Amino acid sequence: MNDKILITGATGLLGVDLMAVLKQDYRAMGVATANFDIQNYDETASFLDRMKPEVVLHAAAWADVDGCEEQKEKAFAVNAIGTKNIATVCKNIGAKMIFYSTDYVFDGTKGSAYTEDDKPNPINNYGRSKLEGEQHVLDILDNAAIMRISWLYGTAKDCFVTSVIHSALTQHRAKLKNEPYEVLKVVGDQFSCPTWTVDIADQTKVIIEKKLTGIIHAASIGQASKYKLSENIFEELSWDIEMNLVKRSDVPMKAKRPERTDLENKRLNELGLSEMRSYKEAIREFLMVHKED
Ligand SMILES: NC(=O)c1ccc[n+]([C@@H]2O[C@H](COP(=O)([O-])OP(=O)(O)OC[C@H]3O[C@@H](n4cnc5c(N)ncnc54)[C@H](OP(=O)(O)O)[C@@H]3O)[C@@H](O)[C@H]2O)c1
Repeated sequence: MNDKILITGATGLLGVDLMAVLKQDYRAMGVATANFDIQNYDETASFLDRMKPEVVLHAAAWADVDGCEEQKEKAFAVNAIGTKNIATVCKNIGAKMIFYSTDYVFDGTKGSAYTEDDKPNPINNYGRSKLEGEQHVLDILDNAAIMRISWLYGTAKDCFVTSVIHSALTQHRAKLKNEPYEVLKVVGDQFSCPTWTVDIADQTKVIIEKKLTGIIHAASIGQASKYKLSENIFEELSWDIEMNLVKRSDVPMKAKRPERTDLENKRLNELGLSEMRSYKEAIREFLMVHKED
Protein backbone atom coordinates (compact mmCIF):
# COMPACT_ATOMS: atom_id res chain seq x y z
CA MET A 1 0.00 0.00 0.00
CA ASN A 2 3.01 2.27 0.17
CA ASP A 3 3.57 2.47 -3.58
CA LYS A 4 4.80 5.71 -5.10
CA ILE A 5 2.05 7.01 -7.40
CA LEU A 6 2.33 9.75 -9.98
CA ILE A 7 -0.89 11.41 -11.18
CA THR A 8 -0.83 13.30 -14.49
CA GLY A 9 -3.51 15.96 -15.01
CA ALA A 10 -3.46 16.63 -11.25
CA THR A 11 -4.88 20.17 -11.64
CA GLY A 12 -7.93 18.88 -13.54
CA LEU A 13 -11.47 18.00 -12.50
CA LEU A 14 -10.55 14.35 -11.90
CA GLY A 15 -6.89 14.80 -10.98
CA VAL A 16 -7.55 16.97 -7.92
CA ASP A 17 -9.82 14.33 -6.37
CA LEU A 18 -7.49 11.49 -7.39
CA MET A 19 -4.76 13.26 -5.41
CA ALA A 20 -7.02 13.91 -2.42
CA VAL A 21 -8.14 10.26 -2.19
CA LEU A 22 -4.93 8.44 -3.19
CA LYS A 23 -2.65 10.39 -0.89
CA GLN A 24 -4.49 8.88 2.09
CA ASP A 25 -2.93 5.47 1.34
CA TYR A 26 -0.05 6.07 -1.06
CA ARG A 27 2.90 8.34 -1.60
CA ALA A 28 1.06 10.33 -4.28
CA MET A 29 2.51 13.10 -6.39
CA GLY A 30 0.56 15.20 -8.88
CA VAL A 31 1.86 16.80 -12.08
CA ALA A 32 0.42 19.05 -14.80
CA THR A 33 1.71 21.14 -17.70
CA ALA A 34 3.84 23.25 -15.33
CA ASN A 35 5.95 20.12 -14.62
CA PHE A 36 6.22 18.72 -18.16
CA ASP A 37 4.29 18.55 -21.41
CA ILE A 38 3.18 14.97 -22.19
CA GLN A 39 3.46 15.78 -25.91
CA ASN A 40 7.23 16.00 -25.46
CA TYR A 41 8.78 12.53 -25.02
CA ASP A 42 12.13 13.72 -23.66
CA GLU A 43 10.55 15.98 -21.01
CA THR A 44 8.18 13.18 -20.00
CA ALA A 45 10.92 10.54 -19.86
CA SER A 46 13.34 12.69 -17.89
CA PHE A 47 10.70 13.64 -15.27
CA LEU A 48 9.38 10.11 -14.76
CA ASP A 49 12.90 8.68 -14.75
CA ARG A 50 13.81 10.98 -11.88
CA MET A 51 10.63 10.28 -9.87
CA LYS A 52 10.52 6.53 -10.55
CA PRO A 53 6.85 5.99 -9.67
CA GLU A 54 5.57 2.43 -9.29
CA VAL A 55 2.13 3.42 -10.64
CA VAL A 56 1.16 6.21 -13.06
CA LEU A 57 -2.46 7.38 -13.12
CA HIS A 58 -2.72 9.12 -16.48
CA ALA A 59 -5.54 11.66 -16.22
CA ALA A 60 -3.93 14.41 -18.33
CA ALA A 61 -5.84 15.05 -21.54
CA TRP A 62 -7.24 17.72 -23.75
CA ALA A 63 -10.85 17.12 -22.71
CA ASP A 64 -12.39 20.10 -24.55
CA VAL A 65 -14.62 18.21 -26.99
CA ASP A 66 -15.33 21.23 -29.23
CA GLY A 67 -11.72 22.41 -29.05
CA CYS A 68 -10.60 18.96 -30.23
CA GLU A 69 -12.97 19.23 -33.19
CA GLU A 70 -11.45 22.55 -34.26
CA GLN A 71 -7.82 21.57 -33.61
CA LYS A 72 -7.53 17.95 -34.62
CA GLU A 73 -3.72 17.95 -34.61
CA LYS A 74 -3.54 19.16 -31.02
CA ALA A 75 -6.22 16.66 -29.95
CA PHE A 76 -4.15 13.75 -31.28
CA ALA A 77 -0.85 15.22 -30.05
CA VAL A 78 -2.10 15.41 -26.44
CA ASN A 79 -4.59 12.54 -26.21
CA ALA A 80 -2.92 9.96 -28.46
CA ILE A 81 0.81 10.80 -28.70
CA GLY A 82 0.94 12.15 -25.13
CA THR A 83 -0.58 8.87 -23.91
CA LYS A 84 1.84 6.87 -26.08
CA ASN A 85 4.72 8.79 -24.46
CA ILE A 86 3.48 8.01 -20.96
CA ALA A 87 3.00 4.31 -21.85
CA THR A 88 6.49 4.06 -23.38
CA VAL A 89 8.14 5.59 -20.33
CA CYS A 90 6.07 3.35 -18.00
CA LYS A 91 7.41 0.35 -19.91
CA ASN A 92 10.98 1.60 -19.63
CA ILE A 93 10.81 2.26 -15.88
CA GLY A 94 8.60 -0.75 -15.07
CA ALA A 95 5.65 1.30 -13.80
CA LYS A 96 2.04 0.13 -13.87
CA MET A 97 -0.16 2.53 -15.88
CA ILE A 98 -3.83 3.34 -15.50
CA PHE A 99 -5.20 5.40 -18.37
CA TYR A 100 -8.53 7.23 -18.07
CA SER A 101 -10.51 6.95 -21.27
CA THR A 102 -14.05 7.92 -22.14
CA ASP A 103 -17.56 6.79 -23.08
CA TYR A 104 -17.09 9.01 -26.18
CA VAL A 105 -15.20 6.13 -27.85
CA PHE A 106 -18.73 4.85 -28.65
CA ASP A 107 -21.09 6.25 -31.28
CA GLY A 108 -24.12 6.26 -28.97
CA THR A 109 -26.44 4.32 -31.29
CA LYS A 110 -26.59 0.96 -29.44
CA GLY A 111 -29.77 1.83 -27.55
CA SER A 112 -28.59 0.22 -24.32
CA ALA A 113 -25.54 0.46 -22.02
CA TYR A 114 -22.11 -0.26 -23.53
CA THR A 115 -19.97 -3.05 -22.07
CA GLU A 116 -16.27 -3.73 -22.55
CA ASP A 117 -17.26 -6.23 -25.29
CA ASP A 118 -18.78 -3.53 -27.53
CA LYS A 119 -16.84 -2.19 -30.47
CA PRO A 120 -15.87 1.49 -30.23
CA ASN A 121 -16.79 3.80 -33.09
CA PRO A 122 -16.13 7.41 -32.06
CA ILE A 123 -17.93 10.20 -33.90
CA ASN A 124 -15.73 13.17 -32.96
CA ASN A 125 -12.02 13.99 -32.75
CA TYR A 126 -11.97 13.87 -28.94
CA GLY A 127 -13.32 10.28 -28.98
CA ARG A 128 -11.05 9.27 -31.88
CA SER A 129 -7.94 10.69 -30.19
CA LYS A 130 -8.76 8.98 -26.86
CA LEU A 131 -9.36 5.66 -28.66
CA GLU A 132 -6.00 5.99 -30.38
CA GLY A 133 -4.51 6.61 -26.92
CA GLU A 134 -6.13 3.35 -25.71
CA GLN A 135 -4.62 1.47 -28.63
CA HIS A 136 -1.12 2.78 -27.90
CA VAL A 137 -1.44 1.70 -24.26
CA LEU A 138 -2.59 -1.81 -25.23
CA ASP A 139 0.20 -2.12 -27.84
CA ILE A 140 2.96 -1.01 -25.48
CA LEU A 141 2.00 -2.50 -22.10
CA ASP A 142 0.64 -5.92 -21.08
CA ASN A 143 -0.23 -4.92 -17.56
CA ALA A 144 -1.94 -1.52 -18.01
CA ALA A 145 -5.55 -0.79 -17.07
CA ILE A 146 -7.75 1.44 -19.19
CA MET A 147 -10.63 2.85 -17.16
CA ARG A 148 -13.43 4.11 -19.41
CA ILE A 149 -15.31 6.69 -17.39
CA SER A 150 -18.13 9.07 -18.28
CA TRP A 151 -19.56 12.57 -17.66
CA LEU A 152 -17.68 13.65 -14.54
CA TYR A 153 -18.67 16.16 -11.91
CA GLY A 154 -16.71 17.44 -8.95
CA THR A 155 -15.66 20.69 -7.34
CA ALA A 156 -12.12 21.16 -8.63
CA LYS A 157 -13.27 23.00 -11.77
CA ASP A 158 -16.48 24.28 -13.30
CA CYS A 159 -18.57 21.44 -14.72
CA PHE A 160 -22.21 20.94 -15.68
CA VAL A 161 -23.36 20.11 -12.14
CA THR A 162 -21.71 23.12 -10.50
CA SER A 163 -22.79 25.51 -13.27
CA VAL A 164 -26.44 24.37 -13.30
CA ILE A 165 -26.57 24.69 -9.49
CA HIS A 166 -25.14 28.19 -9.81
CA SER A 167 -27.75 29.24 -12.42
CA ALA A 168 -30.54 27.64 -10.41
CA LEU A 169 -29.43 29.42 -7.24
CA THR A 170 -29.66 32.76 -9.09
CA GLN A 171 -33.23 31.89 -10.14
CA HIS A 172 -34.13 30.59 -6.67
CA ARG A 173 -32.92 33.80 -4.98
CA ALA A 174 -34.69 36.04 -7.53
CA LYS A 175 -37.95 34.17 -6.92
CA LEU A 176 -37.62 34.58 -3.15
CA LYS A 177 -37.29 38.34 -3.69
CA ASN A 178 -40.07 38.45 -6.31
CA GLU A 179 -37.58 39.68 -8.89
CA PRO A 180 -37.53 38.75 -12.61
CA TYR A 181 -35.53 35.61 -13.41
CA GLU A 182 -34.31 33.57 -16.37
CA VAL A 183 -35.77 30.16 -17.15
CA LEU A 184 -32.93 27.60 -17.50
CA LYS A 185 -32.47 25.96 -20.91
CA VAL A 186 -31.21 22.40 -20.45
CA VAL A 187 -30.49 19.66 -23.02
CA GLY A 188 -32.71 16.59 -22.68
CA ASP A 189 -31.78 14.34 -25.61
CA GLN A 190 -28.26 13.16 -24.73
CA PHE A 191 -27.74 10.46 -22.12
CA SER A 192 -24.83 9.09 -20.14
CA CYS A 193 -23.83 8.23 -16.56
CA PRO A 194 -23.13 11.27 -14.39
CA THR A 195 -20.24 10.21 -12.14
CA TRP A 196 -18.63 11.90 -9.13
CA THR A 197 -14.85 12.17 -9.45
CA VAL A 198 -14.45 10.90 -5.86
CA ASP A 199 -16.15 7.61 -6.83
CA ILE A 200 -13.68 7.19 -9.70
CA ALA A 201 -10.82 7.77 -7.27
CA ASP A 202 -12.21 5.10 -4.89
CA GLN A 203 -12.60 2.64 -7.79
CA THR A 204 -9.06 3.42 -8.94
CA LYS A 205 -7.72 2.30 -5.55
CA VAL A 206 -9.38 -1.09 -6.01
CA ILE A 207 -7.95 -1.41 -9.52
CA ILE A 208 -4.46 -0.68 -8.18
CA GLU A 209 -4.81 -3.03 -5.21
CA LYS A 210 -6.22 -5.93 -7.24
CA LYS A 211 -3.75 -5.30 -10.08
CA LEU A 212 -6.52 -5.34 -12.72
CA THR A 213 -5.47 -4.99 -16.35
CA GLY A 214 -7.19 -4.37 -19.68
CA ILE A 215 -10.30 -2.31 -20.44
CA ILE A 216 -12.58 -1.65 -17.47
CA HIS A 217 -15.80 0.37 -17.54
CA ALA A 218 -16.35 2.42 -14.37
CA ALA A 219 -19.33 4.74 -14.23
CA SER A 220 -22.17 5.47 -11.83
CA ILE A 221 -25.18 3.25 -12.33
CA GLY A 222 -28.10 4.65 -14.31
CA GLN A 223 -28.31 7.03 -17.23
CA ALA A 224 -29.52 10.60 -17.31
CA SER A 225 -29.69 13.60 -19.59
CA LYS A 226 -28.61 17.01 -18.34
CA TYR A 227 -32.32 17.82 -17.96
CA LYS A 228 -33.05 14.69 -15.92
CA LEU A 229 -29.98 15.16 -13.72
CA SER A 230 -30.97 18.79 -13.09
CA GLU A 231 -34.45 17.62 -12.01
CA ASN A 232 -32.80 15.14 -9.60
CA ILE A 233 -30.56 17.87 -8.17
CA PHE A 234 -33.36 20.41 -7.66
CA GLU A 235 -35.56 17.75 -6.06
CA GLU A 236 -32.75 16.94 -3.60
CA LEU A 237 -32.31 20.64 -2.83
CA SER A 238 -36.11 21.21 -2.62
CA TRP A 239 -35.82 24.09 -5.08
CA ASP A 240 -38.64 24.90 -7.46
CA ILE A 241 -36.66 25.73 -10.61
CA GLU A 242 -38.18 26.49 -14.01
CA MET A 243 -36.42 24.79 -16.91
CA ASN A 244 -37.07 24.51 -20.63
CA LEU A 245 -36.04 21.24 -22.24
CA VAL A 246 -33.95 21.89 -25.35
CA LYS A 247 -32.39 19.56 -27.91
CA ARG A 248 -28.71 19.12 -28.72
CA SER A 249 -29.48 20.63 -32.12
CA ASP A 250 -30.72 23.84 -30.42
CA VAL A 251 -27.28 24.46 -28.89
CA PRO A 252 -24.57 25.35 -31.42
CA MET A 253 -21.59 22.97 -30.93
CA LYS A 254 -18.56 22.28 -33.09
CA ALA A 255 -18.39 18.55 -32.34
CA LYS A 256 -21.16 15.97 -32.75
CA ARG A 257 -22.23 14.36 -29.47
CA PRO A 258 -23.19 10.67 -29.28
CA GLU A 259 -26.82 10.24 -28.18
CA ARG A 260 -26.55 7.55 -25.51
CA THR A 261 -23.22 6.39 -24.09
CA ASP A 262 -24.05 4.99 -20.67
CA LEU A 263 -21.53 2.38 -19.59
CA GLU A 264 -22.23 -0.96 -17.93
CA ASN A 265 -19.51 -1.92 -15.44
CA LYS A 266 -19.62 -5.52 -16.64
CA ARG A 267 -16.08 -6.60 -15.74
CA LEU A 268 -16.10 -5.01 -12.31
CA ASN A 269 -19.47 -6.60 -11.56
CA GLU A 270 -18.33 -10.03 -12.73
CA LEU A 271 -15.22 -9.77 -10.55
CA GLY A 272 -17.26 -8.53 -7.57
CA LEU A 273 -15.02 -5.45 -7.42
CA SER A 274 -17.37 -2.60 -8.29
CA GLU A 275 -17.29 0.42 -6.01
CA MET A 276 -19.74 2.24 -8.26
CA ARG A 277 -23.20 3.16 -6.95
CA SER A 278 -26.36 4.63 -8.43
CA TYR A 279 -25.88 8.13 -9.78
CA LYS A 280 -28.79 9.35 -7.64
CA GLU A 281 -27.13 8.12 -4.43
CA ALA A 282 -23.81 9.70 -5.45
CA ILE A 283 -25.31 13.09 -6.33
CA ARG A 284 -27.21 13.08 -3.02
CA GLU A 285 -23.96 12.61 -1.10
CA PHE A 286 -22.15 15.16 -3.28
CA LEU A 287 -24.82 17.76 -2.49
CA MET A 288 -24.72 16.95 1.21
CA VAL A 289 -20.94 17.16 1.41
CA HIS A 290 -20.83 20.45 -0.51
CA LYS A 291 -23.95 22.08 0.99
CA GLU A 292 -21.98 24.99 2.41
CA ASP A 293 -20.08 25.72 -0.84
N1 LIG B 1 -14.62 15.47 -17.71
C1 LIG B 1 -15.36 14.46 -18.12
O1 LIG B 1 -16.60 14.51 -18.11
C2 LIG B 1 -14.69 13.19 -18.61
C3 LIG B 1 -15.50 12.14 -19.08
C4 LIG B 1 -14.88 10.95 -19.50
C5 LIG B 1 -13.51 10.84 -19.47
N2 LIG B 1 -12.75 11.87 -19.03
C6 LIG B 1 -11.29 11.71 -19.01
O2 LIG B 1 -10.87 11.87 -17.66
C7 LIG B 1 -9.56 12.46 -17.62
C8 LIG B 1 -9.59 13.71 -16.75
O3 LIG B 1 -10.47 14.66 -17.33
P1 LIG B 1 -10.74 16.07 -16.63
O4 LIG B 1 -12.13 16.45 -16.92
O5 LIG B 1 -10.24 16.03 -15.24
O6 LIG B 1 -9.78 17.02 -17.50
P2 LIG B 1 -9.41 18.54 -17.20
O7 LIG B 1 -10.15 19.06 -16.02
O8 LIG B 1 -9.52 19.27 -18.49
O9 LIG B 1 -7.86 18.47 -16.77
C9 LIG B 1 -6.90 18.14 -17.72
C10 LIG B 1 -5.57 18.00 -17.02
O10 LIG B 1 -4.61 17.59 -18.00
C11 LIG B 1 -3.48 18.44 -17.93
N3 LIG B 1 -2.91 18.56 -19.27
C12 LIG B 1 -3.54 18.96 -20.40
N4 LIG B 1 -2.67 18.97 -21.43
C13 LIG B 1 -1.46 18.56 -20.94
C14 LIG B 1 -0.19 18.37 -21.52
N5 LIG B 1 0.03 18.60 -22.82
N6 LIG B 1 0.84 17.97 -20.72
C15 LIG B 1 0.64 17.75 -19.39
N7 LIG B 1 -0.57 17.90 -18.79
C16 LIG B 1 -1.60 18.30 -19.56
C17 LIG B 1 -4.02 19.77 -17.42
O11 LIG B 1 -2.95 20.50 -16.84
P3 LIG B 1 -2.96 22.11 -16.78
O12 LIG B 1 -3.95 22.48 -15.72
O13 LIG B 1 -1.57 22.45 -16.40
O14 LIG B 1 -3.36 22.58 -18.15
C18 LIG B 1 -5.04 19.28 -16.40
O15 LIG B 1 -4.39 18.98 -15.18
C19 LIG B 1 -9.18 12.73 -19.08
O16 LIG B 1 -8.41 11.68 -19.54
C20 LIG B 1 -10.52 12.75 -19.81
O17 LIG B 1 -10.36 12.36 -21.16
C21 LIG B 1 -13.30 13.05 -18.59
